[in-house]
Amino acid sequence: MTKLVQAEPRAIVAPGGPAFRQAMAQIASAVHVVTTLGPAGRAGMTATSVASVSDEPPTMLVCIEGASRTLAAIESSGSFCINTLSDTHEELAAIFAKRRNLDGEARFATADWITLATGAPVLAEALVSFDCRLIDVHLVATHRILIGEVVALGGTGLGGGLVYRRRGFGAV
Ligand SMILES: Cc1cc2nc3c(=O)[nH]c(=O)nc-3n(C[C@H](O)[C@H](O)[C@H](O)COP(=O)(O)O)c2cc1C
Repeated sequence: MTKLVQAEPRAIVAPGGPAFRQAMAQIASAVHVVTTLGPAGRAGMTATSVASVSDEPPTMLVCIEGASRTLAAIESSGSFCINTLSDTHEELAAIFAKRRNLDGEARFATADWITLATGAPVLAEALVSFDCRLIDVHLVATHRILIGEVVALGGTGLGGGLVYRRRGFGAV
């Protein structure tokens, strides 16, 4: 079996850049599109660094890189929606990850979107959508951790999920 992270099981591997990214690549993560309605219109990006924080009140977090246009739009609007993708949404994940050279409103053209409580775009065919009010922001290294209180839920609950592992998409 090929050891992707450690040459020897007990060797200490320095966790600098490439080794850390290689370590993170082993983790299968659900894929989401995080959206908002900002001052310049709709904005959104693909994100895997999403987690639940607490269930009372229902609270989620997402980590977004400091240069992201979606981050700036969320900080202006004070709300965002986490749309969890199904296994039919691989192309949508690529579009919202800038892999099709589309930005802003153009990323929304190939899917149907609705709104719930905050006005952030909700993917009509998402597995689940968490419509959130931004309640806290933490700056850590190159990223912001956005904390949102979930104010409405959407989604179909139907079909398989989309995951990202070893730099590729897969179905679960
Ligand atoms: C599978 C996948 C997961 C990603 N997860 C994140 C993430 O959690 N946080 C982040 O800041 N960027 C993440 N990205 C990169 C953003 O999707 C990408 O930088 C996006 O184009 C930012 O768009 P914006 O500048 O319009 O906001 C991810 C990309 C891919 C392909």
